[in-house]
Amino acid sequence: MLVLLIAFLFPLAAQAQQVNVTIFTESQCPYCTKLLREQIWPFYVNRPGIMNLQIVPFGKGDCTYDYNRNFHCTCMHGATECDLNRLQNCAISYFPRRHLGLVTCLQGLTTLREGFSKCLSRLSPNTQRKLIECATTQTGELLNYYSMVNTHRAGVRIWPTMYVNGVFFDRSYPVEHKLCEHTAWC
Ligand SMILES: *[C@@H]1O[C@H](CO)[C@@H](O)[C@H](O)[C@H]1NC(C)=O
Repeated sequence: MLVLLIAFLFPLAAQAQQVNVTIFTESQCPYCTKLLREQIWPFYVNRPGIMNLQIVPFGKGDCTYDYNRNFHCTCMHGATECDLNRLQNCAISYFPRRHLGLVTCLQGLTTLREGFSKCLSRLSPNTQRKLIECATTQTGELLNYYSMVNTHRAGVRIWPTMYVNGVFFDRSYPVEHKLCEHTAWC
């Protein structure tokens, strides 16, 4: 009976210890790069399983579509930022549960080609091909559009913007402290 009870309760208890983290980023904003490289990635590696993380790469920009329903997005830091946002969104879409390494690697790079050579080289040729195709076609542009809708819906005005369990976090102290306030797993 006790074993049954524990087996039943454990997943619920485990879920309650996870912390929801939503981060709105753009691929070439320096503070986004700092946040991902210096705080989010180390936390993910050192304290695995705590964050239930959602990253929304888009930033300040806009997307429109033409009469063929082809999407065209513009981004704050220019076309390369849109390219890298696309590849980040593709990575998130292809690896719904394991994309943070890839997204962090792509963050802050200066060209899409650099992203391909630096961040995709350890993936299988087939996966590389799929991600490159996604990042250079309407598939990726549509994902950028969805991230734009998410960003606009949340009313985000500065990047990065971070929410912890649905509450805006102003990042005035280290992310680790904030996340550890919400879980017994630290
Ligand atoms: C975390 O997000 C899930 C949905 O993904 C939701 O069901 C849950 O209530 C959230 N937890 C908190 C503490 O906000």
